[in-house]
Amino acid sequence: MTLDAITQCFDLTAGQFEALVRGFQQEYDQGLNTAEATGLATMIPSYVTRLPTGQETGTFLALDLGGSTLRVCAVHLLGQGNVKVDEIKRSISMTDPLRTGSTLVFFDWMVDTVDQLLKDYGLQSTQALAMGVSWSFPIDQTSVSDGKILRMGKGFDLQDIEGQDLKTLFTDAFARKNVNVKVTALINDTVGVLVAHAYNDPDARIGFIYGTGTNAAYPEKVSRMLKLGSAYHQEHPHQEEMLVNTEIDIFGSDAYLPLNRFDRLLDANHSQPGFQLYEKMMSGAYLGELVRLAALELVQENALFDGHTPLEFKDMYSFETAQLSDLESRCNQSLEMRLHQLGSAFTFDAHTDYQPTEQDLATMTILCRTVATRGAKLAAAALASLIEQQHESLLQNQPIVIGVNGSTFERYPQMPERILAALSDWFGSDVASRIRLDVASDGAGIGGALIAMLYAEEEEEEEE
Ligand code: GLC
Repeated sequence: MTLDAITQCFDLTAGQFEALVRGFQQEYDQGLNTAEATGLATMIPSYVTRLPTGQETGTFLALDLGGSTLRVCAVHLLGQGNVKVDEIKRSISMTDPLRTGSTLVFFDWMVDTVDQLLKDYGLQSTQALAMGVSWSFPIDQTSVSDGKILRMGKGFDLQDIEGQDLKTLFTDAFARKNVNVKVTALINDTVGVLVAHAYNDPDARIGFIYGTGTNAAYPEKVSRMLKLGSAYHQEHPHQEEMLVNTEIDIFGSDAYLPLNRFDRLLDANHSQPGFQLYEKMMSGAYLGELVRLAALELVQENALFDGHTPLEFKDMYSFETAQLSDLESRCNQSLEMRLHQLGSAFTFDAHTDYQPTEQDLATMTILCRTVATRGAKLAAAALASLIEQQHESLLQNQPIVIGVNGSTFERYPQMPERILAALSDWFGSDVASRIRLDVASDGAGIGGALIAMLYAEEEEEEEE
């Protein structure tokens, strides 16, 4: 295999892009009409039927559990789209026993963090504070604040957590720890990102996460969501739209995903083969591994590192997306500096004493660029399908605003530009010039607080 042949494997042709967009759209339709709530559920209703206007005010709590961090915030909504956030952030490393231990212990740990925030920022009050939970895993929702955990993933394997009611798990933990907080909203992180961005810019119509994992949310017409059932439609005749968590991460099949040898190899070696095939082709958890697999082939052919396998390539997932990003971000530095960096990033068996060459540097950079650019195109295909799903925005001459969150999007060099270029190839430059990919930082947490606020009012109204 030559470098050219490998880069060709990662090409995404216009025809394949079209097949992806159409494949995604078919899955939207299917998911909107299928009421099944299994670990493979897609198009999950959020029951969030309105977006904030930007004028809301007050203090609300948010808990945001991501793949590697727990963030607990007090979000002070100041009106006119402005927010101030007090937060406590805790990292959970992949090897932390908390990830794979008792569910009870894990919830106690999260609630202790909330308690700490209340104490640190003097937020204790006699009235229970409303908290929104942003969960970067799918929940089978039955209302804004009720839902069962469908699955975890991202290295979490908590005992018997799947199928449990998320609000109850929190309510019980708050009671055990005597902390005066009530959960008024549960949302997937993508829904949070969209809501948070809408507070800032009411034109926002898509929430997209491109980080360790990938996923998207958008407002769908309630009339098109047959899965809600006829009773729901009768009870809510005036509801127009509802935010939907697509769980696009698990979309895709051989029928339309352009899987190459390396994608198949990565999938076959994974603990959950066949699952999240689309996400495995493009999200931050996997870009490094795809580069490693492709690079290993070149090493075997003596076309890289003169046939020496660096220690950093020996284990699965030992080459991380942050390293790809580092290599690409140094393109403007002097050759000398870049070679020095490559030499310190890779170590070889002591007896070989191999020093990476300019050719190795060029090859590694091309591999990283190729795999990451395909990632950008795959992300663009998801966005293109979601923009078309809301074709009104295409017809009207208005901005198409997408709130995006996630390390791959925010930190990978020129990632927004690469995604926009692929969108421009698809829609043409006129429509593409209306598309805005805005970073919705803190999106999931702020979104959680906003929904807690919108629906805390509703609960109170219902109680009156
Ligand atoms: C994974 C989860 C999904 C989440 C996404 C982004 O794909 O399944 O629920 O939204 O990661 O964090």
